[in-house]
Amino acid sequence: MRPKVKNKRKLLCASLSPRETRKIGRTFARKVLDCFFSGKHPRKQAIVIGLEGDLGGGKTTFTQGFAKGLGIEKKILSPTFVIMKKYPIPAVKSGYFYHIDCYRIESSKDLKSIGIKKLIKDPKNIIIIEWAKKIKEILPKNTIWIRFDFVDLKKRRIYSSWCGKN
Ligand SMILES: Nc1ncnc2c1ncn2[C@@H]1O[C@H](COP(=O)(O)OP(=O)(O)OP(=O)(O)O)[C@@H](O)[C@H]1O
Ligand SMILES: [Mg+2]
Repeated sequence: MRPKVKNKRKLLCASLSPRETRKIGRTFARKVLDCFFSGKHPRKQAIVIGLEGDLGGGKTTFTQGFAKGLGIEKKILSPTFVIMKKYPIPAVKSGYFYHIDCYRIESSKDLKSIGIKKLIKDPKNIIIIEWAKKIKEILPKNTIWIRFDFVDLKKRRIYSSWCGKN
């Protein structure tokens, strides 16, 4: 049996369908808004969420639910070919949600060239990065990590370094 804690990430939950994974994403986004954008624990820089784990593990599916949880109505597709997509966050004045996919990038230099450092500096931004391990060295120490394990055709295990508190 798999241990519940692996690489210091705790099991958030198991998901049995894409719908469930989207719901987990939605709940996660609401927790992020509640914790960091309601004045309780204001931050000096963007919220950065690094997604890692298996191919087809559900990173994009989770992100679709996450965007919904932020109140974004636009359909989220994987930004694999454009690296990054930007959406305004309705509840955060001048705040943007960035969805980045590092699957095809060679190194963190590619992200530097699209100005990721500036995006990270802005506390109104929320940034989700698929395949974030590839650019780990340029991400902030307090990056929220979420790992997706492919268990079988329908089942995924989702682990996180953050449990919804500051
Ligand atoms: N429980 C589940 N959670 C999420 N996706 C699931 C689940 N069960 C089946 N799937 C299917 O697995 C696939 C997950 O794809 P998705 O693009 O979200 O993964 P990904 O981690 O972003 O992949 P990639 O590594 O290519 O970026 C989809 O086809 C989805 O329908
Ligand atoms: Mg993906």
